[in-house]
Amino acid sequence: MAPSTLLRFIQILPSVPSSGKFILKDLPGSGGRIDLLCRDLAACFDWGPEEWPVDRLELTALIEDQVALTIRNPESGVPKGEVAWAKLLQEALHGDPPSFIHVERMNLDDLLTEMLAQKDSHLFVLHEEGMPLESVEMPIEGFQNSFMLGDHRGFDSQTEERIDRYGLKRVSLGRRSYLSSHCIAVIISEFERLIVNARNE
Ligand SMILES: C[S@@+](CC[C@H](N)C(=O)[O-])C[C@H]1O[C@@H](n2cnc3c(N)ncnc32)[C@H](O)[C@@H]1O
Repeated sequence: MAPSTLLRFIQILPSVPSSGKFILKDLPGSGGRIDLLCRDLAACFDWGPEEWPVDRLELTALIEDQVALTIRNPESGVPKGEVAWAKLLQEALHGDPPSFIHVERMNLDDLLTEMLAQKDSHLFVLHEEGMPLESVEMPIEGFQNSFMLGDHRGFDSQTEERIDRYGLKRVSLGRRSYLSSHCIAVIISEFERLIVNARNE
């Protein structure tokens, strides 16, 4: 039976231009590290899940604290490679999104307020200096679990202030800093393990 849990990743990207004006041949520079989001998407919808159903995964990117792009179940096929993803993200920012990308104008306060108001929803922050993942009880069946990630610089001071103000729990995968795409794959595989364990009990 497929798990009813939804896993959601929230990638904070303050430097990506919300205008969508970037050069596909220069994603890290002109795209303000949109390459990082493209790798997150590949980890979330392509190589990360082994058993976790793709329709129980979601990724929201908060761009320039202005626009949220939510990517759900790319049924028409998972784009291959960073440039293929970047092209679709650019079309979405230009106002012509594919059916599996939802575009909404919002800032971090709007996003956190919306997430925290949802029933049976838990929001964690992936942070090198947080509590070890193993020590945090993760609700499995029937919940929405969201994990927020920083960009290549981590979280800026305004985001750290919001994390404290909203009382969000920081969860760590260890003191070493990993790529956010790696963190996404680790969380998916941890939930795959938790579901198997829960069913064998
Ligand atoms: C590349 S890391 C951030 C950059 C890093 N702080 C640095 O020194 O360059 C991107 C994001 O992945 C997540 N992350 C990376 N390593 C992590 C870890 N060991 N535990 C929890 N989250 C981690 C965090 O959300 C972090 O903001």
